Amino acid sequence: MQRIAIFASGRGSNAASILEYFKSHPVIQVVVICSNNPTAGVKEHAAHYGIPFVHFSPEDRKNVEPMLEVLKRYSVDLIVLAGYMKLIPSGLTQNFDARILNIHPALLPKFGGKGMYGMNVHKAVVKAGEQESGISIHLVNEHYDEGDVLFQAFYSLKEGETPDSLAAEVLKLEHYHYPRQIEEYVFDQLEPGVSN
Ligand code: GAR
Repeated sequence: MQRIAIFASGRGSNAASILEYFKSHPVIQVVVICSNNPTAGVKEHAAHYGIPFVHFSPEDRKNVEPMLEVLKRYSVDLIVLAGYMKLIPSGLTQNFDARILNIHPALLPKFGGKGMYGMNVHKAVVKAGEQESGISIHLVNEHYDEGDVLFQAFYSLKEGETPDSLAAEVLKLEHYHYPRQIEEYVFDQLEPGVSN
């Protein structure tokens, strides 16, 4: 079994789509949900699927050791960021080299970096008059949105597109592709030779 930790900060709709996709998967299992926010909506999804929820305090995130201890306790193989709004400390990226994935709601390297998250991204895309947006799934290093991009899916903006309507369209792409790309990454990189 490949054991996944999901990190999420907010409502957790991506976390929910990942939990649903892997709930009875033969090779991949979500084993813990971690958050910097003790009251994040994702906590309810964790409870619904019977997955432990762990809160990382600012001290935990600064020292890193408590985060590593949790990941060790649950024997985590792969960390999946799903709307996680804090920088991943280098102590974690070093221990999970090429084993941390993130999803970003735009076509990196455009509209990435510090402050570019959630609705900020969609507002910036519409304001810039872009014709196209989409999603990027990428490896995580210690800089915001700078790891290697593994996959992108595209969306053509419609006449009169607003940040809200764009966010809804991009979210549909995220929910569909993220679980499948996680699965593909595990099969290609972590468990080569195994497939469903
Ligand atoms: C998602 O759109 C995700 O791509 C984005 O936050 C949203 C979380 O929604 N992440 C970032 O902007 C990271 N830079 P969710 O909590 O419903 O999954």
